[in-house]
Amino acid sequence: MRAVRLHEHGDADVLQVDEVDRPDPDEDQLLVEIAAAGINPVDTYFRDGSYTPVDVPFTPGVDFAGTVAETGDGVDGFDEGDRVFGTGIGNGGFQGSYAEYATVPTDRVVHLPDGADLTEAGAAGVAAVTAWRALIDHADLEPAEYCLIHGGSGGVGHAAVQIAAAVSARVITTASEGYHDALADYGAETVLDYGRDDLADAVLEASDGGVDAVLDHRLDDYLQFDAEVAATGARVVGIGENSPDPGFTNDGPARSKDVTYQFMSMFNTPDLRVPLRGVGHLMSTGGLSIDVARTYDLEEAADAQRAVMEDSFLGKLVVEP
Ligand SMILES: NC(=O)c1ccc[n+]([C@@H]2O[C@H](COP(=O)([O-])OP(=O)(O)OC[C@H]3O[C@@H](n4cnc5c(N)ncnc54)[C@H](OP(=O)(O)O)[C@@H]3O)[C@@H](O)[C@H]2O)c1
Repeated sequence: MRAVRLHEHGDADVLQVDEVDRPDPDEDQLLVEIAAAGINPVDTYFRDGSYTPVDVPFTPGVDFAGTVAETGDGVDGFDEGDRVFGTGIGNGGFQGSYAEYATVPTDRVVHLPDGADLTEAGAAGVAAVTAWRALIDHADLEPAEYCLIHGGSGGVGHAAVQIAAAVSARVITTASEGYHDALADYGAETVLDYGRDDLADAVLEASDGGVDAVLDHRLDDYLQFDAEVAATGARVVGIGENSPDPGFTNDGPARSKDVTYQFMSMFNTPDLRVPLRGVGHLMSTGGLSIDVARTYDLEEAADAQRAVMEDSFLGKLVVEP
């Protein structure tokens, strides 16, 4: 089979397509014929070695969707031909999904409900599971609460807007102008340009004086901002930053409003199947669309990884082997 691999850590140019043996599933694994593999920023961190360096040769790709080609001897509940999707491979422990086939442990894969699209499902994993973990599990988001989602056009952001809307929260999100209409269609009540000078005032006005929950993917930009726009008792969930030294310039607003901070990694999800099933349900019932901005061949994996870090797009980029 064909698989994208890196033989050394480095920039996107280290990615090449190799002809390799099709892997055999272990006892508790499925062999999945990959239909689609989402491209995530984290794939590039494993590639360049800035996360825990992976043993090479290594195939990137944390997210996947496809059909079951073979089941391990100890597997119950999955059959050849089943449509499945999941996340949490391609992280050093397991080879990834930028390949024609991947072996997948059964604790990180679920059936894809009828009516959900395989390509969208292949891109859903990291983005939608992170959004679900952040908003449902960590922020305990409730109907009619105000929820601020920074960067609503991104992979995580556009899933988060829809998941927050699905629980009937009142969504305020930020994005470049060109994505405002799409995010309103996805359920955002207020969409604001993240570049505007009066952003904090605009968020406070849109939320009657403060937001109850925040999903922050750029803590180095917004840690202080989040405290300023928080309502008393707000929950802020941090998933990322551009430089690893976010800090408060003044911790007064956070302290005086009893703001709770939860930083998270999707890889710590106790059972990935729980949010995956929720995401699958929403995709099959029209509550969640994963916007596939562009698709790439295996040979274009380097372009795809460059684009996920450098380009502006709505939703997700996907490799289709
Ligand atoms: N902790 C976790 O488990 C976890 C899981 C997933 C992702 N992450 C991290 O979360 C971040 C986002 O991931 P992603 O997959 O959603 O990336 P993405 O698809 O590239 O989205 C990033 C978004 O940020 C927007 N943006 C750029 N500058 C901004 C600003 N100043 N203010 C607000 N938004 C801005 C971009 O909009 P433009 O197109 O307008 O530039 C884009 O929509 C990454 O750092 C990733 O590593 C962490």
